[in-house]
Amino acid sequence: MLKILILGSAAGGGSPQWNCNSDVSKAVRNGSNGTSPRTQSSIAVTANDDEWFLFNASPDLGSQILNNKQMHPKKNLRHSPISGVVLTNGDVDHVAGLLTLRERQSLTVYAHRRVHSVLKENSIFNVLNPDYVDRREMKMNQKFELRNKEGQAVGIEVEAFEVPGKIALWLEDESKGEDFGTEDGDTIGLKISSKSEKKSFYYIPACAKMTDKLADRIKGAEMVLFDGTLWKNNEMASSKVGEKTGQRMGHMNNSGDDGSIEAFKNLDVKRKIFIHINTTNPILLQNSKERETVELNGWEVSCDGMEINL
Ligand code: MLT
Ligand code: MN
Repeated sequence: MLKILILGSAAGGGSPQWNCNSDVSKAVRNGSNGTSPRTQSSIAVTANDDEWFLFNASPDLGSQILNNKQMHPKKNLRHSPISGVVLTNGDVDHVAGLLTLRERQSLTVYAHRRVHSVLKENSIFNVLNPDYVDRREMKMNQKFELRNKEGQAVGIEVEAFEVPGKIALWLEDESKGEDFGTEDGDTIGLKISSKSEKKSFYYIPACAKMTDKLADRIKGAEMVLFDGTLWKNNEMASSKVGEKTGQRMGHMNNSGDDGSIEAFKNLDVKRKIFIHINTTNPILLQNSKERETVELNGWEVSCDGMEINL
């Protein structure tokens, strides 16, 4: 078995975003247009229905645990089904939830060395006491088995690979040129497989561009959870909530010739699901033409609490 639980389907800020009055954020607050609240980007995966790994730890992790009974303590006075965390980048929406995982609970945290180094430089993350929390480096393009703090394998294999992207927003350095000091490994995708039955899927919550290499990798995949941040590149400006384009933020748009819908057209991916969706994206509105287009092209729009069994 490989069970996937979508803990948070929204991009950084969530939907609604606390300070946003865009159509989607408003509709979520009003309960109109069939759009529900979405918390920030994270999924949980298990291969034994007992031990779960988080893939990214969102600032909303506390409420995500509360709202999903699979994440509740079960066995002892102190227990969590969460055995560890795998990080795909150092963005606030993907690492801030680590602070929720303090309280002397055994965990393993896997990340690229770039992300480990920023966690190390920020002493607030020292609340993750090394007596309880192992930090392990993920080497790119090398399959490995996830292990709990006791070193036991939990039946999940992971392979991490670099994808086009950007350094985390809070680490941008304008003096380093137009890519703000981005290096390889700042954004990664993951292939996640069950060890026993070889079920697998890809989790790529941020990606700035479809390359030939990435297309070859995911061709024919059973399922891909993919960066659904924006419908179009200039969406923040056209919805008058900001100036940054999707490209500037390290995200490819869903629509258009350079978008993900087009890029996936001939890849024969069996199940395509948008995740990490920004609150400005009209695909979040049930009755929008953009949602219709997405669905006509065989895509699903993830929502919080969605469970997938592969
Ligand atoms: C992003 O995905 O672009 C980031 O999460 C932005 C942010 O940190 O708010
Ligand atoms: Mn993000």
